[in-house]
Amino acid sequence: MKLFVLGVGPGDPELLTLKSKKILEEVSLIFSPTGGKDNIALSIVEKVINLKNKKVVSIYFPMKKTRKESLEAHWISIAEKIIKELKIFKKGAYITLGDPSFYSTFFYIYPYLRLEVEVELVPGVSSVSAVACAIPLSLSIADEKIAILPANYLTEKDYQKYLFNFDTLVFMKPYKNLPEITKFISNFFSDLKVYYVKRASLPEEEIYENLSQVPENSLDYFSVVIVKKEKKNET
Ligand SMILES: C[S@@+](CC[C@H](N)C(=O)[O-])C[C@H]1O[C@@H](n2cnc3c(N)ncnc32)[C@H](O)[C@@H]1O
Repeated sequence: MKLFVLGVGPGDPELLTLKSKKILEEVSLIFSPTGGKDNIALSIVEKVINLKNKKVVSIYFPMKKTRKESLEAHWISIAEKIIKELKIFKKGAYITLGDPSFYSTFFYIYPYLRLEVEVELVPGVSSVSAVACAIPLSLSIADEKIAILPANYLTEKDYQKYLFNFDTLVFMKPYKNLPEITKFISNFFSDLKVYYVKRASLPEEEIYENLSQVPENSLDYFSVVIVKKEKKNET
């Protein structure tokens, strides 16, 4: 039994790799994780692959922040569901937004699959690359250091520590934490460039260079904030 875990990119179907496209054409079974938000991964695949003769199995992941232990039973049941289908189809593809190695729910279930299933990960274009290119911004050059941070898990002390130690901060899932991020960066001693990017690479993409100007209706789960220290010699 084999499961391909495909990073399908950040939204633009043209950013789906040739390798993922080839695998999606070959398999008859596709697992599609959902969490109550728009299913962008499946909408990317639908635009590139004819799903008419394929079985698409939805895999539900609760999006709330919960301790790992309390979700373990759910992850085991997802792994069992995947194994049951793979026993019939022998191979399948599990699609995931962006890149599978990067904040993907797949890794919650991986430990319960890997003893029975051969798993192959196929890289994808991550939202971080898509957001930086959309701005456009160099995330790092020469000696610059980047920190990629889950905004929904940070405390005020964290902001201070990371802003002192890194040149570029990338905040994932920042949409509920914009007030804290705005407050903290406004107290920082050095000049900063700040960007909020919603739905990079999709037609609904929006870019703001001032967090206080982000309208309420642009606060979106599919967004990233980038904070970069301004260098005096930068053009
Ligand atoms: C569960 S993580 C998945 C990350 C994904 N594996 C990747 O490589 O980009 C979901 C977060 O990714 C970011 N994200 C995903 N797609 C995005 C897009 N097209 N534009 C902006 N942010 C995006 C948002 O911060 C969102 O809350």
